[in-house]
Amino acid sequence: MSVATMLENEAMKYAADAVKYDKMGDKDKAADSYKRAVEQLMRLIKLYPDYTFNKFYVEKVTTYQERIRFLKSEDGEETGIEKFTSFETKQTGTHEPESEADEPEEKPNVRWGEVAGLEDAKRAIKEVIVYPVKRPDLFPLGWSRGLLLFGPPGCGKTLLAAAVATEIEAQFIQIDPASIMSKWLGAAEQNVAKVFGGARRTAVGGKPVIIFIDEVDSILGVHTNEVGGEVRMRNQFLKEMDGLIDKGKNYHLYVVAATNKPWDLDWGFIRRFQKRVMVPLPDYATRLQMFEINSSQLEMTPDVDFHVLTQLTEGYSGSDIKDICQVVRQEVIRELFESGAAENTTAKPRPLSMADFKRAITNRKPSVSKEMIKEYDKWFDQFKAL
Ligand SMILES: Nc1ncnc2c1ncn2[C@@H]1O[C@H](COP(=O)(O)OP(=O)(O)OP(=O)(O)O)[C@@H](O)[C@H]1O
Ligand SMILES: [Mg+2]
Repeated sequence: MSVATMLENEAMKYAADAVKYDKMGDKDKAADSYKRAVEQLMRLIKLYPDYTFNKFYVEKVTTYQERIRFLKSEDGEETGIEKFTSFETKQTGTHEPESEADEPEEKPNVRWGEVAGLEDAKRAIKEVIVYPVKRPDLFPLGWSRGLLLFGPPGCGKTLLAAAVATEIEAQFIQIDPASIMSKWLGAAEQNVAKVFGGARRTAVGGKPVIIFIDEVDSILGVHTNEVGGEVRMRNQFLKEMDGLIDKGKNYHLYVVAATNKPWDLDWGFIRRFQKRVMVPLPDYATRLQMFEINSSQLEMTPDVDFHVLTQLTEGYSGSDIKDICQVVRQEVIRELFESGAAENTTAKPRPLSMADFKRAITNRKPSVSKEMIKEYDKWFDQFKAL
């Protein structure tokens, strides 16, 4: 057992004790156990400053310290104990899911039409998810379960995943790094199993399920300075993916992952995503569409020519273009306020002009460099699976 795992286990044990005493009303023993848990966690943080879970541990330390202060203060409302959940209960042997309802699930509301361009990625998604869901009978050999979307930041990976969830009647379970930091700690691999278990039950029950892991590199990438929890979590994840491929011939459970750092993923992980699709910088037609989408609500002078703007924004990402449109809009609003005209509640900002857009573009450099693009192309050549 590594030192980190040992400290982690110790901290969990003390935290579990603390919560137990706390619930029993034994304030002294509870405070003492919280203090010991804090000590172990602090040691862990000092020893492994780069550990992925530190953010979560720092949060825990703060929570415990607050709790200690409360326990020692003799008065005050009885609050806060319900904050203590998976991390503390792991050692007490409750391996059952706490409740299905606390799993990170939300239904985003993005439609296909709001995602400009990206025809290849959209086609891949249709092939991997939409067609098998509609006509499983056409896939006697089974179908892919994993889709990896990768590419430079701000080009629509997250947006695309949200659109898939809206467009097919699927349960959408989003696992993002933040929810993992606060929920998966210590009990990391167990929680991976829990998410997959819940998803599998839904899928077997007949409803398609998509597990979406955004920024997958930050959770499942290979980092230097790894400690036990991360490795265990990754292995559990790989195991779950294998389970899908082996046994999941007849239900619809898909894993879609997105990353802008595909090179941080190891081959064991990559190969379980049978489809790997690049979400590239927008081409001319896509940028044109982006200007149209982003300005559909804005009033503009007749001289605004999207074709010219599209030419000027070669190399810009979708989120750059969105920013440009927002900046232009903000400027006329600022003008309205600074001139005092905004006092009159019916006053409107002046329409946006071509000069406004051009200025905003000059003032904003593309957020993705040519060198970065080369790296994506290189990676794609090596690992593509369309
Ligand atoms: N193809 C696109 N169509 C329409 N809007 C887009 C597109 N790509 C990016 N945008 C705009 O940029 C914003 C950011 O895009 P998104 O979050 O999907 O990028 P991403 O590829 O997930 O980036 P990251 O790698 O940083 O997570 C979107 O909310 C949207 O406004
Ligand atoms: Mg994203």
